[in-house]
Amino acid sequence: MKVKVRKAVIPAAGMGVRFLPATKAQPKEMIPIIDKPTIQYVIEEALESGIEDILIISGRGKRAIEDHFDHAPELEAHLAAKGKEAALTAVRRISEMGNIHYVRQRRPLGLGHAVGCARAFVGNEPFAVLLGDDIVRSAVPCLKQMLERHAELGGSMVAIEEVPREEVSKYGVIRGEEVGPQVYRVNDLVEKPPVDQAPSRLAVMGRYLLDPRIFDLIEETEPGAGGEIQLTDALRKLVREQALYGYRFEGQRYDVGYCLGYLKATVDFALEREGVREPFLDYLRRKLL
Ligand code: G1P
Repeated sequence: MKVKVRKAVIPAAGMGVRFLPATKAQPKEMIPIIDKPTIQYVIEEALESGIEDILIISGRGKRAIEDHFDHAPELEAHLAAKGKEAALTAVRRISEMGNIHYVRQRRPLGLGHAVGCARAFVGNEPFAVLLGDDIVRSAVPCLKQMLERHAELGGSMVAIEEVPREEVSKYGVIRGEEVGPQVYRVNDLVEKPPVDQAPSRLAVMGRYLLDPRIFDLIEETEPGAGGEIQLTDALRKLVREQALYGYRFEGQRYDVGYCLGYLKATVDFALEREGVREPFLDYLRRKLL
């Protein structure tokens, strides 16, 4: 019998170097798209996909994340006294979102190492990993799409997307064969390959469903690209033992960890927001004339 995926891990210990100076004194995960921190979008995706427990891999300078998902008694009392019911409801809702746990990655040794910090929390069951730089706008949450396929296929799974050739060096890239609609069986994968050495244009996006065997493999993984312990390198070992699938999800992905991706997400989300859409469109129209 296949085991249900109940737990998710969100690595959030990175220093946010691509978004300096905004991330000098605040976590990049707290930078908002319109009025909601990016990490909240990711947590909502996990919860809407049926995940019950979430572990945030935190680090130095990341306390604002914990405060965000906790109660804020003074703020709540202030909003209640002023009769600001809508704001009060929104603030309370955040502190009641799912079971969120924290562990610190004490040294910045890479994504693979960060995921390794989740071992005690995850135990011996399959789990999800969601990276906060990738936000997906879709009718069915990206993780839910993956979980549905995973329930049929078993094994481990990474979300993939075709990217322009000149962008492959920003990602983990798979080599695989298509084995069904939107599904590839992965034979190998490479972290941030030079353009001329990439095995395909199918890049790994920040959603993973992993077998707990990955923890042993992470422990055996030496530093790779950028001198960091890479999750991709541990996955490369997993492929030799077990099935790993690449799933081409439906939806629009934004890399909100850099300026242009962040701006695109902001514009698209603003154009969907009631009360913002029309005046914002007017503004854009005038700008583009
Ligand atoms: C990480 C992974 C990479 C993946 C990417 C997706 O890279 O190491 O394999 O393709 O996320 O966003 P990072 O963006 O942390 O450099």
